[in-house]
Amino acid sequence: MSAVQTDKWAPGMGVEIKIDHLTKSFGKQMIWGDVSLVVPAGEISVMLGPSGTGKSVLLKTIIGLLKPDSGAVVIEGTDIASCPEKELYEIRKLFGVLFQDGAMFGSMNLYDNVAFPLREHTKKSESQIREVVMEKMDLVGLLGAEDKLPGEISGGMRKRAGLARALVLDPEIVLFDEPDSGLDPVRTAFLNQLIIDLNTQIDATFLIVTHDINTARTVPDNIGLLYHRHLAMFGPREMLLSSEEPVVRQFLNAQRVGPIGMSEEKDADELAAESGQELPPLPPIPIQQEPSNGIPRRGQRPAGTWCQENGVTPPPGSFDPGMNMTVGA
Ligand SMILES: Nc1ncnc2c1ncn2[C@@H]1O[C@H](COP(=O)(O)OP(=O)(O)OP(=O)(O)O)[C@@H](O)[C@H]1O
Ligand SMILES: [Mg+2]
Repeated sequence: MSAVQTDKWAPGMGVEIKIDHLTKSFGKQMIWGDVSLVVPAGEISVMLGPSGTGKSVLLKTIIGLLKPDSGAVVIEGTDIASCPEKELYEIRKLFGVLFQDGAMFGSMNLYDNVAFPLREHTKKSESQIREVVMEKMDLVGLLGAEDKLPGEISGGMRKRAGLARALVLDPEIVLFDEPDSGLDPVRTAFLNQLIIDLNTQIDATFLIVTHDINTARTVPDNIGLLYHRHLAMFGPREMLLSSEEPVVRQFLNAQRVGPIGMSEEKDADELAAESGQELPPLPPIPIQQEPSNGIPRRGQRPAGTWCQENGVTPPPGSFDPGMNMTVGA
């Protein structure tokens, strides 16, 4: 029997990731400390943070590629950070990971790249593999490109091929490390729509690291912000987009006024210089991007629900389809 109790969850519903008091250092350098959050099952969550705050390190810790100094990453009752290798190997099968550059094998065509995890981890026959590969290629809009080498296609196509490969083992959790980096705005918009549509179809838990504020404002159910060696905030999208907390407010609205400077924190002089400055008003909260079939996702809630339930007045113009504008671009 495998170490993973596959009967503990309904297949295709996604599983939650419970991160509990997690701390990670390299040598004397602490990357982040005491990080606690629950990434809700089946929902789309985005993790933001300035460059170097340890977002990729967090993803790698979640799949057990890196070991934390202390704390736990609990998935279906198993702590990834402390479980035996054999169990980790089983748990990893629940994950699909889209690495930043797509991480394709350059000498293999897209078909073989996408088939790779199936050949590695399953006993499927080549004809069964073919069925899965073609289904996933279709899902990401790459049918017909099977014979291409990664070097022969555009960055956007490589990301989608990486996504197809991340999906072949029918993951319960999909981790995306900057799926939109290096893509033009139109391709980013298509990729975001694809992510939302995929979430509807496979119902897995999605955790996306991105630098794109627009993606963060419009795509996810939840947003987190890593800043200055800790998790500044994690919660529903509307909570962060209406937050007055200085770091959250500055980052999510791509503003220059606030505690975040060009190199991490501003110093006392810089902060004093802007102490009299009025903060720009919070921009309206955009409506969340919807699946293209118009049927709401499981994790999706009607616009304004969080604000209403928490007695928060959203910024003027919020949830008005006409007000969905690009911020900080
Ligand atoms: N294997 C490693 N050994 C030592 N230090 C590491 C290792 N991996 C990452 N780091 C350090 O950890 C810090 C966080 O790195 P990480 O790549 O997670 O940042 P990031 O938030 O993903 O940044 P970016 O937005 O630029 O991708 C950096 O200072 C990096 O140098
Ligand atoms: Mg990174």
